Amino acid sequence: MQSDSNPAITIRRLIDGYQVSQAIHVAATLGIADLLAKGSRTADALAADTGTHAPTLYRLLRALASVEILREGNGRTFELAPLGQQLRADTAGSMAGWAAFIGSPGYWQAWGGLLHSVRTGENAFQHVHGADVWSYRASRPEESALFDRAMTALSRQASAALLAACDFGRFRTVVDVGGGTGALLAAVLTAHPGLQGILFDQPHVVAAAGAFMQRAGVSDRARIVGGSFFDEVPEGADAYVLRSVVHDWDDVDGVRILATVRKAMAADGCVLLVERVIAPPNEGRDAKFSDLNMLVAPGGRERTREEFEALLGPAGLRVAAVIDAGAFGVIEAVTR
Ligand SMILES: C[S@@+](CC[C@H](N)C(=O)[O-])C[C@H]1O[C@@H](n2cnc3c(N)ncnc32)[C@H](O)[C@@H]1O
Repeated sequence: MQSDSNPAITIRRLIDGYQVSQAIHVAATLGIADLLAKGSRTADALAADTGTHAPTLYRLLRALASVEILREGNGRTFELAPLGQQLRADTAGSMAGWAAFIGSPGYWQAWGGLLHSVRTGENAFQHVHGADVWSYRASRPEESALFDRAMTALSRQASAALLAACDFGRFRTVVDVGGGTGALLAAVLTAHPGLQGILFDQPHVVAAAGAFMQRAGVSDRARIVGGSFFDEVPEGADAYVLRSVVHDWDDVDGVRILATVRKAMAADGCVLLVERVIAPPNEGRDAKFSDLNMLVAPGGRERTREEFEALLGPAGLRVAAVIDAGAFGVIEAVTR
């Protein structure tokens, strides 16, 4: 990324960051990185393949080359730079799904309500759309699929670090609570052939999970259950993973979810919260901006270690360990 020591230029680039975000979103939505996977192409050829206006697509591509996502060669040709490779659908840790989701109109509009959130403490998404994210998506299958694809992308990226940091071999049955379409559970079951798994999420989300588990070759060890974690979750397992779930909720609902899990788990069981942990002042940009994302969209928050302890206590759980898993922490909790 180009840097400049002039603070006026640096702040201007930060202010205009939304333009880069939207440009990446458009390129991801058009599948530009996949079209460049085999090598360089001209802007005209890419426009023909994407059904876009060639001179305008060229303007988008050269802007992306200026921030080192693409590289522009002679004759309006473009190839992927290392950052752009991350936008291919087929790379490990692909961010294509996340980029397609994050700039989509409904989500984008909700971020326009950040000022409202800061003034009132209220959820911007609800303010802008008149519905919470979950009911909004439940009635819009395309947007729901876009979100699930984004979550799958993030889950895949987190899986390797989680498996390296956490010994899943000690468990008999793992329930992935709010596990989306099953990317994380599939990775855990693949790494541990002796393990049984249960994927639990909203019925319309897990509807797509059977085929996913089949493709991953773990369907004989993965049970799929639809429901709401405010009512009940599958009983009797010795590990309950919740990745990026409690950060969607405020403390009242967070305690409700954890209490449901606590009620269901085996006496010797544990809960593994896979979440960003808020760092001390001036550190940890990713968690602190993710916290704003939680404020704006689902209405939740990222938490410090102490805030996780305060959330777990009323649910009858206590922190046994906090394990570093790269961008995330694993907060391992057991019954009191
Ligand atoms: C931020 S996503 C994380 C998904 C997945 N754990 C991951 O890491 O990719 C939160 C998940 O919670 C699920 N969820 C939301 N409300 C739910 C409810 N009441 N009961 C069960 N799952 C719910 C959503 O469908 C979504 O899959």
